[in-house]
Amino acid sequence: MKKPNEYKLRVKMGYFVVLFFMIAGSISCTNTKSGLSHSKVNVVAEIRLIPQPLTKEITKGTFDIVPTTRWILASDNAAAQRGIEIVLEEFQKATRFPLKLEKDLTAGKVKNALVFNLNGDKEKLGKEGYTLSVTPGNVSISAATPAGVFYGLQTLRQLFPPELEDNSFKANGWSLPCVEITDKPRFVWRGDMLDVSRHFLPFEFMKKNIDYLARYKMNTFHWHLTDDQGWRIESKKYPRLTEIGAWRVDHNDQLWWVRQPQKPGEKATYGGYYTQDEIREVVKYAAERFITVVPEIDMPGHSRATIASIPEIFCDGSGGPFTVGTGGVRSGNTLCPGKEETFKFIETLLTEVLPLFPGDYFDIGGDEANKSSWMKCPRCQARIKSEGLKDEHELQSYFIGRVEKIVNSHGKKLIGWDEILEGGLAPNAAVMSWRGERGGIMAAKMGHDVVMTPMDYCYINLLQGIPALEPPVPDLGTSQARLSTVYSYDPVPAELTEEEAKHVLGTQGNLWGEFVLNEADANYMLLPRLLAIAEVGWTPKNNRIWDDFVVRLEYNLKRLNNLGIKYAPSMYNVEVSTQMSEKEGFVKLALSTEHGKAPIRYSLDGSDPNENSELYKNPFDIDRTVMIKAAVFRGPSKIGRTTEKSPLIHKAAGITPVFSHPASKELGNAEARSLTDCLRGTLSRNSKEWVAFEGVDMIATLDLRTQKSVSSILVGCMERQSQRIFWPQKVDVLGSVDGTDFRLLGSVSNTVENRRESRAKDFKVSFPASEFRFIRIQAANVGACPAWSADAGKKALLYADEIIVE
Ligand code: ACM
Ligand code: ZN
Repeated sequence: MKKPNEYKLRVKMGYFVVLFFMIAGSISCTNTKSGLSHSKVNVVAEIRLIPQPLTKEITKGTFDIVPTTRWILASDNAAAQRGIEIVLEEFQKATRFPLKLEKDLTAGKVKNALVFNLNGDKEKLGKEGYTLSVTPGNVSISAATPAGVFYGLQTLRQLFPPELEDNSFKANGWSLPCVEITDKPRFVWRGDMLDVSRHFLPFEFMKKNIDYLARYKMNTFHWHLTDDQGWRIESKKYPRLTEIGAWRVDHNDQLWWVRQPQKPGEKATYGGYYTQDEIREVVKYAAERFITVVPEIDMPGHSRATIASIPEIFCDGSGGPFTVGTGGVRSGNTLCPGKEETFKFIETLLTEVLPLFPGDYFDIGGDEANKSSWMKCPRCQARIKSEGLKDEHELQSYFIGRVEKIVNSHGKKLIGWDEILEGGLAPNAAVMSWRGERGGIMAAKMGHDVVMTPMDYCYINLLQGIPALEPPVPDLGTSQARLSTVYSYDPVPAELTEEEAKHVLGTQGNLWGEFVLNEADANYMLLPRLLAIAEVGWTPKNNRIWDDFVVRLEYNLKRLNNLGIKYAPSMYNVEVSTQMSEKEGFVKLALSTEHGKAPIRYSLDGSDPNENSELYKNPFDIDRTVMIKAAVFRGPSKIGRTTEKSPLIHKAAGITPVFSHPASKELGNAEARSLTDCLRGTLSRNSKEWVAFEGVDMIATLDLRTQKSVSSILVGCMERQSQRIFWPQKVDVLGSVDGTDFRLLGSVSNTVENRRESRAKDFKVSFPASEFRFIRIQAANVGACPAWSADAGKKALLYADEIIVE
């Protein structure tokens, strides 16, 4: 199904060498015992840091690290020492120098030494800031906390050239460029979330993810440990949670969202879980890198695996058996808040597992609870009555409130997805805003802390670029969160006052696991978007510039290449668009990449582009349908994939229609010219091709500039009823020679039927060839969403991608 290996980046090292670093002057090697050759290689890195520090002053010269260079900790602190040793071990592996951390509390600016101390100005640097000074004689990292020292070291790591990560590279010395840095983060919460329920990811990968976070100064790992499709944390009090709850039938031959549940006699063989010892190891590994693990045990919804293990805490009194979820579970997955057993279970479980996680927060999830079982449950209804609750929303709030008390009694704070606002927010709870920013804004205005992680910017399970060029996962959909979109996010919504904005703890990326089957998939989705999230969380907004980020990113991608980590090259994939041409009968073809400056080569004759193909410079005219194939090349190496597109040139190409009713800017593309840009839309929510009309007809008039012989006209429309998008009821096509008197040329009618899937359809009218200068298309919107639809009565949307005149 999904083959991330197809997306190999074939960046050849040699090419970047020229671009990004220089071979500096030689140094003499005095250590003949080192076993290194005497070739005098000394590579100096460019200063290309991610995240971009607060202030940075590049000074003259280099600090040369040789086998005799000393590494000195000038403060007495075990956590700082451990943090330094972790990084030093990696430096040692790369440099093959005998690096050893000495302790010398009196060390100042010792020559030929890197000195670390905790004497930094707490006032100025805060809990995570540091200063880093590289001069020709000495390097010093100073912070007020061990975390600050560790982040200073992560910056130091990036002052080494990417060869640091290349095990086969040998040097007699390493030179760091001189620089003065003062740095601290913008936000205290900089994280990622991994969903290990939908697909189980190995314990070892949890550590690799923590390594990614550490390198880019992130400090929070949100571990989504339970969901409908699998329970992943060992409980000794409730062994059934892993005996039963960790296993499901996989059915990976079926599309995820419609996978059939486990049948009697079928064996549940897919799954896994982390033992408590493994959890402790991950937590310790994270803590040594100044990363807090926030466990999420999702409840009351998303609890099918819990219910399969402990059927007594479900509303249904039958006692089951219930099976762990497969694919898109929509009901039968909510715990019963009417039963005291439910809270007894939660209290016993949390009393057992919360001590595994020393951080401040427990994440209750709280999202998307299906309340249909509560409506039918006598106990839930009795609870609503006895507690004087208004409805099931308030029952959810009651549930969250009771769990919060348990969590608080263990000295922890509760956090949950923004649904926990519904029916009233628990008194001390923090909120993760995922359905846009609304929940976060509301909670911050109420004085609660929030983590801003809206889907469109922070859901790194979404596609990272042009759907046709991303791994083909048929049931994933086509929604995107591109690298540049992720990078553009500002976690402080404009609606908040300065005081309210103090409640914004920060941001995180969320990797949901429905289509993340293994480590390779996870790497592809996490990288490079995690680097963008890191910078959003660390760097002040006005220090963030996309063009500059891309240059720094490419240097860091070299490090990933050297580590053998396969990331998504989506920012190099070529997009084809059209522009109006001054020349009649022509349109201009324009090529671009998300990267912005990557060299694009293309062919128009159907051949695969290579490094010798035409280099794209500016939009160019075409007057006939061609197959354009385009890709980015660095020297002989293709980066990313080849785009193939065949813009269909027709008689209205490049003509901008005039609308009688305006298109909706909020709900789609409102640009009239995209209806005649010769490019068809994909079925993507975010495709730029679809022009949207809300509740009104599309009446589009085109002036072909001269009289032309026309024999067919069509308009392409999309239907996606789950998002209020319906095909038109009827399309009328009219023609005119003078622009005043229009003659009906034909109509196509459509019966609006209840349909689940998204689809596109061309409404086409053919007629005997006639001469016209003006064309009018009247597509009748269904008006209000039909009674049987989820949005009955709301304004319906009409989506059109192209008008084709032939
Ligand atoms: C979520 O995406 N259900 C938090
Ligand atoms: Zn119930």
